[in-house]
Amino acid sequence: MCGIVGFAANENTAAEVFKGLLKLEYRGYDSAGIAVINEGRIKCEKVAGRVSELKDAAEGLFGKVSIGHTRWATHGAATRSNAHPHISYDGRFALVHNGIIENSVELKAELTGLGIEFKSETDSEVIVQLIAKNYFGDPIKALDAAVKRLSGSFAIALICTDFPLSVFAAKKGSPLIAGRGRNRNMLASDVSALSPFAKSICRLSDGELLEIRKDTLNFFRDGKPVEKEFEEIKMKEYKADKGEFEHFMIKEIFDQPEVAKSIIEKRIRNGEAVFSELEPDILTDIKQVSIVACGSAYNAGMAGKYILKELLRLPVTVSLASEYRYAAPLPLEGTITVFISQSGETADTLAAAERVRALRGRSISIVNVRDSALTKLTDYTLYTEAGPEVAVATTKGYTAQVMTLCLLGVWAKQSEKSVLFEAVEAIKSIPEIMLRLLGTKDKAEELAKKVKEEDSVYFIGRNIDYAVALEASLKLKEISYIHSEAFAAGELKHGSIALIEEGTKVFALNCYGPLTDKTVSAIREVKARGACVTAAFCENDGNTAAVCDEGIPLPIVHPIVGAVCEIIPFQLLAYFTAKHRGADIDKPRNLAKSVTVE
Ligand code: F6R
Repeated sequence: MCGIVGFAANENTAAEVFKGLLKLEYRGYDSAGIAVINEGRIKCEKVAGRVSELKDAAEGLFGKVSIGHTRWATHGAATRSNAHPHISYDGRFALVHNGIIENSVELKAELTGLGIEFKSETDSEVIVQLIAKNYFGDPIKALDAAVKRLSGSFAIALICTDFPLSVFAAKKGSPLIAGRGRNRNMLASDVSALSPFAKSICRLSDGELLEIRKDTLNFFRDGKPVEKEFEEIKMKEYKADKGEFEHFMIKEIFDQPEVAKSIIEKRIRNGEAVFSELEPDILTDIKQVSIVACGSAYNAGMAGKYILKELLRLPVTVSLASEYRYAAPLPLEGTITVFISQSGETADTLAAAERVRALRGRSISIVNVRDSALTKLTDYTLYTEAGPEVAVATTKGYTAQVMTLCLLGVWAKQSEKSVLFEAVEAIKSIPEIMLRLLGTKDKAEELAKKVKEEDSVYFIGRNIDYAVALEASLKLKEISYIHSEAFAAGELKHGSIALIEEGTKVFALNCYGPLTDKTVSAIREVKARGACVTAAFCENDGNTAAVCDEGIPLPIVHPIVGAVCEIIPFQLLAYFTAKHRGADIDKPRNLAKSVTVE
């Protein structure tokens, strides 16, 4: 994934690059580094650790141009030598790279054959060595020649000792944004790193190169200058502030009632759902809805599937973007494809959206980050208005996605007055119910103290409870590192029940009214094989209460808003379990907030 930053100014730029890297740490935090040009030479500092560990070293770096990198390791371990920037064999160039070079093995063999010694195991180092090999006094030509030999994806920033006032860059497949500031210009993987310094921004397109100096930004394609338009920066700088909370994740869990309120304020007017971004008939004649996303956004899509099916009475499919992008193309006539992504930068989701666009399919994106890449690839964008999400594990991003899907379904059906009133009232009750559920945090912590000893746990549910089980399980495993899986309760006996033995921990989610009896049967089955079952159920459901070992009674809600509320106790459970296991909650191992590589 990785994040890159580059600055050119008339004064020291290393501090700005350092600040930019802190903002990009959500993209990866295995190692970090900064390089500057000082007195005609490259000076570089790197750490195998978090960006914050680079602070002291960064304070000792001075240069009018700087580049920096925060890494999510793909090729080679998270060591200092694999950290970027990488320096060319002749000491003339330093380079940072986000992306993956798919033909790096062949290129490395070729360059090694020419006597070049590699210092890292990364795919990225081949780029800087190729550039140095192709350099005959013009860095743009050298960069152009080098990137034409690369397969894969890249956003590159480069400095060259012969041009101590310039940062050079190239892009294909990975995001890269140029920013224009006062007496300084810059580039970064995303707007958040630029927003404190830039007045306007411009996204590079694939195949473009860039040279930035303190007062100029020149774009090129195939060696020729190209004109680009800049847009005023819309995203306000935000302070990553945990307030009274110990971690961003718990803060963001507690942000949810406010997020829900702001979604309601934006989307419900005079008792009707409002989507002014959409053409009124966009969902009128469709034959099916196809939802495409990754991770928790996929889980939100699964919840959306049950909600939209119930409301629209149409086929709704949910696909993992990583599968969808390579699947045999199906005709998209009559289909509306809905892409869901908190970041709007997830590589697989972007590739899937590009595919739908190439096939001229109609599409909507449900996105949190303003102006992110996905918003440029779909016909319509619905912002989730969850506000910046810092913790790697999404919480408010997920509930905002599910709420948006609920509202979209209601909007499509609001000519049917019976659907409208009940559903709108249900959605309006979400903030209140969320507050009630957050009030059970101490109970979640007590439960977490027991769960923290488990090696493996299972979640079961049917219909929308199954969708929530998927998300509850993902939340727990990704931050506590306890093995966890979710099953559709009816599928258990087709294989997975073999995993149940004396003492196995099972969470049964059982709030979806029409199928509670069925899940009660599944609970009985796992209990008969020794499982210890904690069940979430509606507070009036005596059957589930009687059959489980421990209960999480939940308020009775309309099925279309069930998922948004039912996940909250499980977000709390995941958080407290991770906390009592001493895990790094906001930055779980091996993960990054934005998965910008395939
Ligand atoms: C899990 C989580 C991830 C993301 C996934 C997609 O807590 O956050 O599974 O949901 O990487 O990310 P976006 O929504 O940015 O496309």
